[in-house]
Order: sequence, then structure tokens, then C-alpha cells
Amino acid sequence: MAAVRIYVPRETAAVSVGADEVALAIARQAKETGTAIELVRNGSWGATWLEPLIEVAVGDKRIAYGNVTPADVPDLFKAGLLSGGKHDKRLGPVNEIPWLIDQDRWAFWRCGLIDPLSLADFRAHQGFKALEKAFEIGPDAVITAVADSGLRGRGGAGFPTGIKWRTVADTPADQKYIAANADEGDSGTFSDRMLMEGDPFGLIESMAIAGYAVGANRGYFYLRSEYPLTKLVFSRALDLAREAGWLGRNIQGSGFDFDIELHLGAGSYVCGEETAMLESLEGKKGIVRYKPPVPAIEGLFGKPTVVNNVVTLTSVPNILNLGAERHAAYGVNRSKGTLAFQLSGNIRRGGLVEKAFGITLRELIEDFGGGTASGRQVKAVQVGGPLGAYLPAEQLDTPLDYEAFIAIGAMIGHGGIVVFDDTVNMAQQARFAMEFCAIESCGKCTPCRIGSTRGVEVIDRMIAGEDREANYDLLVELCDTMEGASLCAMGGMTPFPVRSVLKYFAEDFSSAVGA
Ligand SMILES: Cc1cc2nc3c(=O)[nH]c(=O)nc-3n(C[C@H](O)[C@H](O)[C@H](O)COP(=O)(O)O)c2cc1C
Ligand code: SF4
Repeated sequence: MAAVRIYVPRETAAVSVGADEVALAIARQAKETGTAIELVRNGSWGATWLEPLIEVAVGDKRIAYGNVTPADVPDLFKAGLLSGGKHDKRLGPVNEIPWLIDQDRWAFWRCGLIDPLSLADFRAHQGFKALEKAFEIGPDAVITAVADSGLRGRGGAGFPTGIKWRTVADTPADQKYIAANADEGDSGTFSDRMLMEGDPFGLIESMAIAGYAVGANRGYFYLRSEYPLTKLVFSRALDLAREAGWLGRNIQGSGFDFDIELHLGAGSYVCGEETAMLESLEGKKGIVRYKPPVPAIEGLFGKPTVVNNVVTLTSVPNILNLGAERHAAYGVNRSKGTLAFQLSGNIRRGGLVEKAFGITLRELIEDFGGGTASGRQVKAVQVGGPLGAYLPAEQLDTPLDYEAFIAIGAMIGHGGIVVFDDTVNMAQQARFAMEFCAIESCGKCTPCRIGSTRGVEVIDRMIAGEDREANYDLLVELCDTMEGASLCAMGGMTPFPVRSVLKYFAEDFSSAVGA
């Protein structure tokens, strides 16, 4: 009898709640019962609230079981797991789970579906088709497609990717580079990690396409050091791609050379800022550079460099495979395509939801997220990482659109959405924002380096009830200075969360601990 294929994710979130132990228990149970199984360690579908989510291939379906523990395994076998048998943990076919099918999977469509380290599986799911297409249509047409798709950077700033690629392509130089930004330092974000662990060849293909389009034959992959499993998976994928001729000299006889070097970050938030990342890649301390020149003109080692976020890059293959118009048809206004929203904090159904821009926060938090995990009222939502504003419940109907968020003093950033219920004290959150900046500041400019430390002190005085009005005015003035005079968005945007607390939650200063 053919071995039954069982999928158990090997992805950081799933592993953190016992996926490895579940895989071991399944292997043990199969041995004890003399059952032939093929265990595939896939990536995650992103439904972290259901992890460990395992699947069994039955006919042409994959039957899912959620929140499986090692202790469940003998019982699951007895219930006929191998033929998709009934059990309390059975969720039904994975491609019929409403939480998953209601999404618009563009960059993440292979995540969960394939064996991340099987080149054959990758090839069977459109793998390297877009690179082959790029070779066919030529570099200029690739850049035109990316520009026409309306793709903007998913790392935070939302800069049009086509313009960036065109700038690098048009800047004469003897050497150009692709630098993939996988520093993923924003609080409540994990989309880069899920993608890299679930579809590493997809990222390799995307970087090669970027290199081919702009004339770069070297790529650097800047990975945060806190992702050891990602490092393992991605390094292995690099080796396999190289062995199979998808990296290196003369890729598949195309005449195009491209290779990628993996570089581990050293645990600094500001190293995610593109110029600090380039300094770090050059082996220096991760300090922000003055701009101009932008990296597209003078980047890594002074050469024209495409710096793109992991999700930006992996949005490109489908633009070539399915067409720029298909991508542009998703979204609203100037926010085209999809974003991988990451729901975390006090939320019942946390995880990654890839949806077209234009969806509201309420739809994400209530329909997908199921409200707070505590069952209490949502008090505030922080969107876009530690530099993002805290939005009150009244603003949950704001559509997720870059410009609509800027209009309310907020930002979408990398799509992290952290939910807080009504037990949180927002004055403490404002303090946290300033403290985070004080700890993570690279120190190059005074408003950020000194301002953030003074900011913590002013907020402490307000919390302690010392001359609240005068300190309030001082804090507003300090925010003006940081916003107007900081060299990069670290100091320039820390005022966003602070101001939002002053605007929407000022009463929390009198109820904060220490008041
Ligand atoms: C303090 C700070 C931290 C940042 N961290 C990241 C990060 O972790 N990952 C990322 O892709 N972009 C990060 N960015 C944005 C990058 O500077 C840059 O805009 C981005 O990598 C460009 O790629 P994209 O156009 O594909 O978004 C950060 C920016 C700032 C100011
Ligand atoms: S704003 Fe902060 S992180 Fe950015 S350059 Fe100035 S000191 Fe460095």
C-alpha cells in the first residue's frame, strides 16, 4: 500500500506550540501500528490560531486537523486519521476552511501548500516559471510589468517598486546589487518569516528576477538573527537551488549569472532601515546614512542597489505569471494588490491574512480575528509596528489604504496589527513608544537620541501628575522637533504613537500606574 502523506508544519509559530513533538508522535505511532506514512514538513498556512494544523492527503483532498497535541495522536490514529476520519479536531478539507478561502493569496499562495525544500514540488507549482518568462521577455519588459502592476514596497514606506528598479537599471555602474530586507523588526509582524520558511525558492526566484531586471548579478539576504529556523530553511534552499543550477553562473543556460549570500543581522531594530542595513552588510555598525544619495544610485559598497522587502519581492513572480493588470485589479486607489496583514496581540484568531487593500480594520479584527481573546472591548489597535499610531475603536472602519491611513495620522507599514482590550493603559503605551526609540536609536541625530530619553522623562512626570498641562505642551513640542528634525523615520515617526495617545486616550494619564 502506498504511504499516506501527512503534512506537519515546520514553521516557527507552529513549532513554538509543539509541531515538532506532534511530528515525532505521528512517526512513532505509525511505526508502532506498522503504517507506512510520508511525513512532509510544510510551511504554515498562516492560521496560527489553529497550529499545530496537520493535514492528511486523502484522494485529491488534504484533510486538516487543528490544535493537535502529541497526546491527541494515538486517538487520532484510532479515529482513522489516515483516511481523514472523524475527530473533534477535524476541520475538513484545508481548501474549504472559510478563514483561508476568504483571503486573496497572491504572494503567499504556495505557503502551506508545498514542501518548502522540495524543488520538484516547487516546480510543480509554477516554480521558476516567472524567471523563465523574464528571460523570454527581457529586463525592460519585466520592469514595465512591475511598474504597471502598481506594486509598492511592503517593508513600510510604500515606495513604487517599478520606479526603484528603473532607477537602478538606468544608473550606469560596473556592479549592481539586490539586497533583500528580511530584518522584520516591527512588533506584531511575522509575514517575512512565514514566507521564507514556507516558500524559500519563491524568494530565491524573486531575487533572481530583480537581479535580471536591473542588471545585478549578486544578491544579499539580510536576515534577522532572531529567526534561527528561517536561517536553516533558507540556507538549505540556497544550496539546493545552486546544486540544481538555479543560482550561480549561466542560470539554466540563460547567460545570466546570479548568486545570493545570506547575512545575519545583530538584533538591532534600526538595521531594518535600508541605509543602516547596507552599513551592516558592509560589516560596519548599523547607523543610518544621509540621503541623498538613495541606495538605488549609491547603495551597497557605493553601487546601485535595489533594497526590497521580502514580501515586495515575492509579489513579483505572479505579476509576470498572471499579468500586471491582475495585480492592479486588487486594491483601492494608489494601494494596489494585496497585503499580508498580521493579526496579533489580544485577538481570538491570530495569524496571517493576505487581503486586497481596501479591507477595513473592523473586517480584519472582527471577521477574521473574531474580536479580542479576552472577550472584552477593543480599546486600541496599533497598525504598522512600534512607530504606528494607536487607533481607537471609532477608527476601525478606516480602509487599509496607504493614503487613507496617512490622512488620519497613521500608517500601514508592514501590515502588523496589534489589538489591545480595555484593560490596557495607553499612557504606558506612549511611554513604551518613547522608551523603544531611546533603546533602539542609532544615535546619529540629536532629536531622536536625546529627544526620546527626554520624552520618557516628560511622560513619567505626566503619569506622576506633575504639572500635567505644562508637561503636555512640552511633549507636543518635543514631538514636533523629533518629527521635523530627525534624520530617519525612527525618530521622525515615534511621535505617531505618542500623539495618538494624547489625542484619543489622554484620560489614561491620570489612571496610569504611578499616577
Ligand atoms: C527604523 C526603520 C526600520 C525599518 N525596518 C524594516 C524592516 O525590518 N524590513 C523592511 O523591509 N523594511 C524596513 N524599513 C523600511 C526600509 O528602510 C525600506 O524602506 C524598505 O526595506 C524598502 O523595501 P520596500 O520598498 O520593498 O518596502 C525600516 C525603516 C525604518 C525607518
Ligand atoms: S532618527 Fe534616530 S535612528 Fe534615525 S538616524 Fe536619527 S538617531 Fe538614528
